[in-house]
Amino acid sequence: MTDPQLVLAERVQQALGAAFGPEHASEDPLIRPSQFADYQANVALSLAKRLRRAPREVAAEIAAHLDFPGTVEVSGPGFLNLTLSDEWIAGQAGDLLADERLGVPVSASKTVVVDYSAPNAAKEMHVGHLRTTVVGDALVRAHEYVGNKVVRQNHLGDWGTPFGMLVEHLLDIGETAAVAQLEAGEGNAFYQAARHKFDTDPDFNARARSRVVTLQAEEPETMRLWHMFMDATVRYFNKVYRLLGVTLTDDDIAGESMYRTALAQVCDDLQARGIAVISDGALCVFPPGFTGREGQPLPFMIRKSDGGYGYATTDLATIRYRVEELKADRIIYVIGVTQSLHLQMLFASARMAGWLPDNVEVEHVQIGSVLGSDGKMFKTRSGESVKLLDLLDEAVERAGQVLEDRGYDPALRTEIANKVGMGAVKYADLSVSHDSEYVFDFDRMLALTGNTGPYLQYATARIRSIFRTGGLAPADATGPITLGHPAERALALQLLGFGSTVDTVVSQSEPHRLCAYLFDLAQAFTAFYEVCPVLKAEDESTRRSRLALSAATLRVLLQGLEVLGIEVPDRM
Ligand code: ARG
Repeated sequence: MTDPQLVLAERVQQALGAAFGPEHASEDPLIRPSQFADYQANVALSLAKRLRRAPREVAAEIAAHLDFPGTVEVSGPGFLNLTLSDEWIAGQAGDLLADERLGVPVSASKTVVVDYSAPNAAKEMHVGHLRTTVVGDALVRAHEYVGNKVVRQNHLGDWGTPFGMLVEHLLDIGETAAVAQLEAGEGNAFYQAARHKFDTDPDFNARARSRVVTLQAEEPETMRLWHMFMDATVRYFNKVYRLLGVTLTDDDIAGESMYRTALAQVCDDLQARGIAVISDGALCVFPPGFTGREGQPLPFMIRKSDGGYGYATTDLATIRYRVEELKADRIIYVIGVTQSLHLQMLFASARMAGWLPDNVEVEHVQIGSVLGSDGKMFKTRSGESVKLLDLLDEAVERAGQVLEDRGYDPALRTEIANKVGMGAVKYADLSVSHDSEYVFDFDRMLALTGNTGPYLQYATARIRSIFRTGGLAPADATGPITLGHPAERALALQLLGFGSTVDTVVSQSEPHRLCAYLFDLAQAFTAFYEVCPVLKAEDESTRRSRLALSAATLRVLLQGLEVLGIEVPDRM
């Protein structure tokens, strides 16, 4: 265990047990960063209240029993100020450097199902899907890094009544032309053309409706056309995924269509057990605790009065599959915040049905909207949603401009621009807490200063260039690490927090915490590098130590960015 906060928590708990009896040994010691020491423990204040004793006295007693590598001081009303010894920090930083896993144990072994990306085939894949894709992929990577078994589920919108008119439109424009248009990411235009005919052309409208019937009957020719439509659409999605460096593949596709044969069973089952009831002709579940404005119970509708099934029905079938077939211990839905009520009612209904046992955790990782500079939903000037591939191309092009005068040959520049452009877009999605909105702004996300992807990429390039200048490889910098200057100490201490940060990302589903950690680390490195010469250090042992600190920083930055799914160019 290298993380200082975890080490201190454990030691303070031991002291609590020794001073006040074993019943206090599992109390939260409330370790927090401190202005006056490395950390402080605040437990004495709350414990004193319960013990009806003076907080400073309780603090002093904990301090007297506390055994840890550093010094403790009672301060203020009863805080314990904890300062770690330089030797301990240096030793732990050295261990981290020698550890292939950088102090992050492979400790988890759960099956985690992550539902993310999930664009709709009948519509354009837009910037909102980009964010659930990027955040979901970072969560997936973090879970895999700590040893969980991850099952990715791309719940594509690939079934339902719109596909009747889409198939008819495909026939109208011809198979080859349709496929080309869909592969090019023109799904939105395709959909709009179909929609327009559906609304204005009675003959097309009639054809589309009967096509829905043959689709639902899974008539072979209709299914062939539907597959053709879907395959072309998925090829476009894959283009976007590959460009972004997202780990989703065709094996992860588990769209709405996959559950089409399970829907009737879902309804029959719930109705037979009285969990779903007919209300105004529709079959509904009324999960407890969900009420409308006038206090009336809210329906979770699983079969419309016309007999059709909907999004809710599919999602219930999906939960059953994930629990029964995939054996999920935890199911994570990375979906827009606007679907919050749907998901809460889904989870509650699935619990009522017994399809979601208590030992399976579910959570909605709410994704906030991406806004344009006008504060409204991100759109083009003409008011259409922005085509994702165009947006990504623009990011790469702008990144190329930033690198214009660096003297790279064109091939290398393109390679760097790709990584910087994609890194900038992805990091912008990740660095903000996932449920808040943010304004999509190329200038800000591509800036080389501040909490941006390019800033972190640049930090790694700078460390690499130190090694290049010295004619050394980072892997050869093995220390030992010694701490003289406060900036060295601060950097080493920051390095030790990597493991607990990854842990938080996994337990709280919050990738932005890793961004904040890496940003702090890069800043600690900058502060160190400003005052501590590395290659020109005053003596050989200092030089060795500073090279080791630089190498450790590089590795943590690279590993952290990899967990976030951000590629890093060697130079920049
Ligand atoms: N296709 C849906 C959309 O674009 C998202 C699906 C999310 N997953 C789910 N199991 N409901 O809004």
